[in-house]
Amino acid sequence: MDWGLSNRIDRMFPSSSGNSVMLAVDHGYFMGPTRNLENAKATILPLLPYADALALTRGILRTSVPPTTSTPIVLRVSGGVTILKDDLSEETITTSIQEAVRLNVSAVALSVFVGSAHEHQSLANLAKLVDDGQTYGMPVLAITAVGKELEKRDARYLALACRVSAELGAHIVKTYYCEGFSKVVDSCPVPVVVAGGPKLDSIEAALTLAHGAIAEGAKGIDMGRNIWQSEHPVAMLKALRAIVHQGATVREAAALFHEATTSPKASVTPGVA
Ligand code: R5P
Repeated sequence: MDWGLSNRIDRMFPSSSGNSVMLAVDHGYFMGPTRNLENAKATILPLLPYADALALTRGILRTSVPPTTSTPIVLRVSGGVTILKDDLSEETITTSIQEAVRLNVSAVALSVFVGSAHEHQSLANLAKLVDDGQTYGMPVLAITAVGKELEKRDARYLALACRVSAELGAHIVKTYYCEGFSKVVDSCPVPVVVAGGPKLDSIEAALTLAHGAIAEGAKGIDMGRNIWQSEHPVAMLKALRAIVHQGATVREAAALFHEATTSPKASVTPGVA
């Protein structure tokens, strides 16, 4: 693998665990000002010291993240549809590879919509992005979107979407946790990270999702709403780090979460766990 491309990937998986805790704040690109991300800067800044990478669009990067940050950036470069449309799959590439290089990002990310009306278009976007990425040493993270069709969140479907993404050249794949998740990971030759999906009912449920994913072979998480829609986002991110990097159990991570929320400095004094 080319040195630049390899270096960019390694910076996103910095810990001795070989895993990564990516913080996803790219939701506005199709959802608009979703809950707790209305002021993206206010949401991102306290969390930034605890993230191994930050996933977002160029608009939020430019306006809401200090250029002094050393946190690797995963730049979303697909979009073009909003939640006002029934079919979210008609995405195009919205940001050029030259812009990604100019922004000094560590990877570019796009959604692929396997089985959707615009499957071909999204897979062609992926193939083209990989070609462009190879020219500049830029890794591509493919996001296996399931849109509103939650019934597709099963191992057979996600394994298909992840494998197709890897076959087309994606360097990392983001997908959803599901029953039989190890099948998804085992048949995907590149690292898999998991999204959290909509906010779950409890802290424990989100921690259980992350724990299950890591136990079954994921190389990390790329999570958003279950962190920044939590009442205690910093504590939540710390608890997730313990699972992803230190092999903490759900109970241990939950204890860490509760400890952090009862500490007087819990939400105001950042420091890497
Ligand atoms: C969709 O907007 C993006 O792919 C998100 O980055 C991804 O779904 C992860 O965020 P969450 O954990 O909120 O699902």
